[in-house]
Amino acid sequence: MKFFLDTANVEQIKRAVKAGVVDGVTTNPTLIAKEGRSQHALIKEIAALVKGPVSVEGNGTTCDELVKEAEVYSKWAPNIVVKIPMTEEGMKAVRVLEKKGIRTNVTLVFSPSQALIAAKAGASFVSPFIGRLDDNSMDGMGLVRDMMQIYKNYGFNTQVIVASIRHPLHVVEAARAGAHIATIPADVLAKMWNHPLTDAGIKKFREDFAKVEGKYL
Ligand code: G3P
Repeated sequence: MKFFLDTANVEQIKRAVKAGVVDGVTTNPTLIAKEGRSQHALIKEIAALVKGPVSVEGNGTTCDELVKEAEVYSKWAPNIVVKIPMTEEGMKAVRVLEKKGIRTNVTLVFSPSQALIAAKAGASFVSPFIGRLDDNSMDGMGLVRDMMQIYKNYGFNTQVIVASIRHPLHVVEAARAGAHIATIPADVLAKMWNHPLTDAGIKKFREDFAKVEGKYL
């Protein structure tokens, strides 16, 4: 399973890259706005830090607008993927862009029928927003399982990026479902490292080492 970081914060990305746990990055206009910097400069910096795909979101509403925008973004770096909203116009744009060799990530996907249409349009990636479904008393992980089954049934090459992740168990459940990618906020990734028994075990082993050696390393 690949781990993407769901952030536009350069410090968070640098830290996770150093830890060797980042296979890509996803952003959206809300995450960019939090950084208070222009999208162009920020995305170029992020794309240089990360080897894998970096998603930047298209804001147009028509096919033509989205295609024009994507053509600009895709020139910023070779690893740019353009997020396209799950609309009729968006799916037209996906067909055009994928034919031109510009990779797309269909975003704001909340149902299996949307996921099927995005795959048929030829999207490289599709992002089900599971946390937002859970927030509304709907089964986010059920959507991921349906998508994996549907894509397998028909041999679609589209990769599933599980998005809107709220906690480590979302990542674990997505891995159980066989999702290709989880895009993880930095605070959730930090929780994934941790276990109180690991901390207690390290403390005890260090103390016992010091008992024998007369000092801590
Ligand atoms: O990047 C898209 C997605 O992960 C957003 O998550 O937390 O705003 O629902 P959230």
